[in-house]
Amino acid sequence: MSQTSDTLGRPLRDLRISVTDRCNFRCAYCMPKEVFGKDFAFMERSHLLKFGEITSIVKAAVPLGVRKVRLTGGEPLLRKELEWLVSGLKAIDGIEDIALTTNGSMLVQKAQALADAGLDRVTVSLDSLNDETFRAMNDVNFPVARVLAGIDAAIDAGLTPVKINMVVKRGMNDDDVVEMARHFRGKPVILRFIEYMDVGMKNGWRLEDVVPAGEILKRVAADVALEPIEANYEGETALRYRYADGEGEIGFIASVTKPFCATCHRARLSADGKLFTCLFAGQGHDLKTLIRDQNASVEQLRDALAAIWRVRTDRYSEIRSDDTGDLPRVEMSYIGG
Ligand code: GTP
Ligand code: 5AD
Ligand code: SF4
Ligand code: SF4
Repeated sequence: MSQTSDTLGRPLRDLRISVTDRCNFRCAYCMPKEVFGKDFAFMERSHLLKFGEITSIVKAAVPLGVRKVRLTGGEPLLRKELEWLVSGLKAIDGIEDIALTTNGSMLVQKAQALADAGLDRVTVSLDSLNDETFRAMNDVNFPVARVLAGIDAAIDAGLTPVKINMVVKRGMNDDDVVEMARHFRGKPVILRFIEYMDVGMKNGWRLEDVVPAGEILKRVAADVALEPIEANYEGETALRYRYADGEGEIGFIASVTKPFCATCHRARLSADGKLFTCLFAGQGHDLKTLIRDQNASVEQLRDALAAIWRVRTDRYSEIRSDDTGDLPRVEMSYIGG
């Protein structure tokens, strides 16, 4: 079977796999404490896909066009022995890029083992260099120094270029953007500023809290000269800029002010085995029953994936309006970023 495209002609290239819905942070824009408290019902362990089940799904996705895999959570490094999954994925013919999105809190311990297992690169979420702001944003009083040490460990392990994701929220950390840019300039790190999005139903998102990428760009460009550069590949989330003096690049993920649905080639697999064709989807397609209870072969899984992708119509960020605000949307910690 060759490539499979959806109803808008978009191929499937990128599979983002959430390996757990748990996290040791409680960022208010993602897992607010009031909702994700002591009594919150996280997935039961028995409902999580096993590593072998995940690799079977990835094998089934390769003939449809998937070349890139990203492991996410919650916090993916909370899943024990994640490096075993990485080695399993590395052994799959056709997978060219294996990345991981993490909050960086456990990278000091894990970076080398992940690199040894074949992980290509990591993206670390980091919203501020100011310790007080960072502790307030992760809401578990986690110190910024340990994340910075984790980033260094990732660089030392060769998981480069390390990308940093900074979600910018007005009144929280928008005054930190220039300091972040200055700090990572000249290092093997690509900083990306992300517009705060209305993912999920529980973060109390308001349009006025979004700092448009254009505004962040102006602030950074007032400090140091920037030049726009071409995307690395069609459908890249980030708009790229380089420092005019050659000291590296930064990016802007403007999914609110400049949506990129037209070229979106990403599917998401939740930790309990549901496939979502959009970050803002209300419902996923159950693959776990197929693989666990019905013993589906890789070919049968491939056909199931193709059938789901072919009828895909998603373009949530392009059609976002007052009317879409009330549509049910899955939480980001469940589906991965
Ligand atoms: P690269 O593989 O390095 O290009 O990374 P990426 O940009 O595909 O992945 P990453 O997980 O770093 O994405 C960064 C952020 O962009 C995510 O945390 C989301 O906030 C946002 N994002 C990623 N994919 C999508 C998408 O399909 N739709 C929307 N609306 N936002 C997305
Ligand atoms: N808006 C934008 N980005 C978000 N992330 C989590 N919640 C949101 C949101 N509401 C980002 C995290 C991390 C990635 C998984 O998604 O900061 O980098
Ligand atoms: Fe955890 Fe990342 Fe969500 Fe923060 S954004 S709560 S680190 S999954
Ligand atoms: Fe893709 Fe949905 Fe994001 Fe649009 S909103 S880019 S369709 S995941």
